[in-house]
Amino acid sequence: MTTLLFIAAAYLLGSLSFAVIVSRAMHLPDPRQYGSGNPGATNMLRSGRKTAAVLTLLGDASKGWIAVVLARALAPQFGLDDGIVLLCALAVFIGHLFPVFFGFKGGKGVATALGVLVGLNPWLGLACLLTWLLMAGVFRISSLAAVTTAVLAPVYAGLLMGWGRTAIAVLVIALLLVYRHKRNLINLVNGKEGRIGVRS
Ligand code: G3P
Repeated sequence: MTTLLFIAAAYLLGSLSFAVIVSRAMHLPDPRQYGSGNPGATNMLRSGRKTAAVLTLLGDASKGWIAVVLARALAPQFGLDDGIVLLCALAVFIGHLFPVFFGFKGGKGVATALGVLVGLNPWLGLACLLTWLLMAGVFRISSLAAVTTAVLAPVYAGLLMGWGRTAIAVLVIALLLVYRHKRNLINLVNGKEGRIGVRS
């Protein structure tokens, strides 16, 4: 029962779609109505409001980090095994992808995944952040940077933390993230994927 409460709490936290929340708070158009239609920091940048994009990035990443760190801190007090941390990591990520508060139509999970990975292991988060920055700096395509990082993240997790259940959880997150980018991948193959910050 306690396990389910932890997972539900993480899922509800993940369901807070900061792109939509920030847009409403700043009286901006709904990010689901312009650009790629994705409620995420990259699409928020297409609104031309960098502050809104940064707030979205921070909010979505923070919820991932908080879910993992809180689960780890509270688990012993509730007599739960360390595995609850990984379940909460998955739950907060799935909450972002399929938010109960927003008709189950969420984002692609890049910022939330980053927060989760930093929470699981700061070096893992740093390795992924640097990979994303390198790819984004070279190609200027957010989705390409995200998918490349997602492919490498389970490898980084295995190398840093062993090829156990943490690496498996990271692999599941990475597979979901890549799946959510299927339209971006089609655009990439067709040479139609937009570049970072280009308004649509
Ligand atoms: O963070 C999501 C990014 O990888 C792609 O976003 O809006 O270009 O589909 P978008």
